Amino acid sequence: MSASEAVTDALRDLHARFAGVREGERADYIPELARSDADDFGLALVSMDGHRYSAGAAGTPFTLQSVSKPFVYALALSSLGLDEVGRWVGAEPSGEAFNAISLEPRTGRPANAMVNAGAIVTTALVPDRPDAPAFTRVLTALSRFAGRKLDVDEEVYGSEAATGDRNRALAYLIRSTGTLPVDPVAAVDTYFRQCAVRVTAVDLAVMAATLAHGGVNPVTGEAVVSADVAAQVLAVMATCGMYNSSGDWLLRVGLPAKSGVSGGLIAAGPARFGLAAYSPLLDAAGTSVRGRAALGALSERLGLHLMRNPALPGSTVTLATTADVLPSAPSGRRERALRERVGVVAAQGALDFTAAERVLFALDESGPGQVGSVVLDLREVTGADSVALALLHAGLARLARDGRRAAVVDPGNRLGPPDLVRERTGQDLPRYGSREEAVERCAQAMAGPV
Ligand code: DON
Repeated sequence: MSASEAVTDALRDLHARFAGVREGERADYIPELARSDADDFGLALVSMDGHRYSAGAAGTPFTLQSVSKPFVYALALSSLGLDEVGRWVGAEPSGEAFNAISLEPRTGRPANAMVNAGAIVTTALVPDRPDAPAFTRVLTALSRFAGRKLDVDEEVYGSEAATGDRNRALAYLIRSTGTLPVDPVAAVDTYFRQCAVRVTAVDLAVMAATLAHGGVNPVTGEAVVSADVAAQVLAVMATCGMYNSSGDWLLRVGLPAKSGVSGGLIAAGPARFGLAAYSPLLDAAGTSVRGRAALGALSERLGLHLMRNPALPGSTVTLATTADVLPSAPSGRRERALRERVGVVAAQGALDFTAAERVLFALDESGPGQVGSVVLDLREVTGADSVALALLHAGLARLARDGRRAAVVDPGNRLGPPDLVRERTGQDLPRYGSREEAVERCAQAMAGPV
């Protein structure tokens, strides 16, 4: 336990650094929110393995407010698909405040699902079903993202329902343009309820981590939405999640994020972390002041900016040479001459597009031109995604067409099942259990033409 406390220490440092910040105001247009404790400040981080770290008031409950929007958008996308959802709500940054009258001039479509107008439409796209009213479906989805059963803060719901005329007006305006598919009163009521769902900073970090983890909750292991939907939601969060400060946030912090007027804030480092902050003092854009500062500093400290070193998988190719220089090479001249025509490439780690390109380049570099053969040693490869596999198969097919024979050392079948490899590479690629065996066979095969 104590080694990973270093991660908690990083959060505690940030907590201590920003706890004294007193700028900002609590939201009071929803009267109940003005009753929150201005001193509350919690931070949480959840890894892709579901490890949870927190500092400060990370277990203090508060309401989701606008942080609910990306998750309900995910639910609508899962039910209807991007094209259908896109008919009703756009995906362009509005450059306006969260409660702006954001309606596209000709179609009346709200600019995006992160501003209130778009979120009301998104919620309306989740209709009642015979087995579950709309709000039950929303609450179930939010709970699956959080990995526990969430509930509604009835006081906050009542407070917003009593004062939420601007959102009702927005809903009526949207319907007047003919685009809102259902009753505006019902849609806004469900929207108010989703905003009043109670969470903690740790819950929010789990929810953000689920989006960062391709839609799979890293704590419960449940596939909440597809990887495609998770990516779509993160994309809209990146461009629109922080309203009229989205560009500045992406520039400085470099992470998809979403703020809420109760003081919740999430950010997602795709394939890395889910981050969350809670502190009710807000800036003019409705973002938690301490949350903004702390998550910005955390992104910098952990090197999470998306545009910085987007591919940093470490070295992929651990060996690219010819078999005559291997320590195991026999000393005889003839054997050495044969082995000079056998390339050897070894790779390690997880293979994605970037890594697969490195492997293919190394295959080209590993031998003297278009002759001879090459051994591709994949024993240290831990996995390959579908893009990497397709690229490797295509590269091996090209190699064969160019007259260079390949053999693989692949006891873990990293290259995929033999049938698939045969279909894609157009050959029965010889597979061996050890590098030495593969090199020896390739060298013997060379003996013919020498
Ligand atoms: O619709 C509203 O006004 C609130 N229920 C949510 C707004 C919100 O959280 C804006 N984000 N910063």
